Amino acid sequence: MQIAKTIAEMKALRMKSPDSVGFVPTMGYLHQGHLALVKQARGENSTVVVSIFVNPTQFGPTEDFKAYPRDTERDLAMLKKEKTDIVFMPSAEEMYPGKFNSWVEVEKVTDRLEGSYRPGHFKGVATVVAKLFNIVEPTRAYFGQKDAQQVLVIKKMVADLNMNLEVIVAPTVRERDGLAMSSRNVYLNPQERQAATILFKALTLAQNLWGKGEKNAEAVRQQMTSLISGEPLAKIEYVSIAATETLEELSKINGPALVSLAVRIGKTRLIDNIILA
Ligand code: PAJ
Repeated sequence: MQIAKTIAEMKALRMKSPDSVGFVPTMGYLHQGHLALVKQARGENSTVVVSIFVNPTQFGPTEDFKAYPRDTERDLAMLKKEKTDIVFMPSAEEMYPGKFNSWVEVEKVTDRLEGSYRPGHFKGVATVVAKLFNIVEPTRAYFGQKDAQQVLVIKKMVADLNMNLEVIVAPTVRERDGLAMSSRNVYLNPQERQAATILFKALTLAQNLWGKGEKNAEAVRQQMTSLISGEPLAKIEYVSIAATETLEELSKINGPALVSLAVRIGKTRLIDNIILA
């Protein structure tokens, strides 16, 4: 496994990989959700590149950039086990040198949900992912459905800007009790960890109501909201049932629908989603 810390090193390694390159961008502190993407990339490409970069531009001024968990040695051991070929781990200065003035903004789909609660977040995500794509030049790039809106933003950017790669989306990997794996779960104390199961319980409730024929989106939102409100440690940011492509809120669930939510458990902000189809 080779490690590139500079853009020049990464580009040089890319030049020596003429066949297909599968790329998994991450912010590190890896878990089985990340590794599922790496395994899939391993199965579908000659060369696998994983980036580890806690991207400062996608964190708001009051968010957890400084506190974001980091453990490079552990990450590298996990990636080596998965037969990763190249790990790209640039510094912030390498990615954003003093005079950095160019940004990628994907409009419309970023107005809602995460975009409205985390202003500027997707500008940071789209910009860093565009830079990473230009540096790594992947054949295929792998993203998790856990971050459903991020997937839509990246797909739109790739289509609108004619980027020459395939975006592949993999299902959300969960703990045994349903909690979606996330680097941020480490923030939860045992009591909060137990309370955090309320997100998946609410999504399961939506799935069951819809399965029984409930098509009224507001009725489903209300039942989810009332379930979560029963958990004293949980504070809802949003509960959404939206069209899977435009993210417009639905009144009737007819076609496929993205059920997503953001909930604070104590100080930790968690997101999760399922698709009803
Ligand atoms: P990060 O949160 O580290 O996630 C990296 C990738 O792993 C993303 O595509 C994310 O959707 C996926 N992932 C995270 N948890 C998952 C789970 N439980 N199951 C399946 N996939 C999961 O997302 C980012 O980093 C950043 O925004 C990034 C794209 C790297 C840009 O900085």
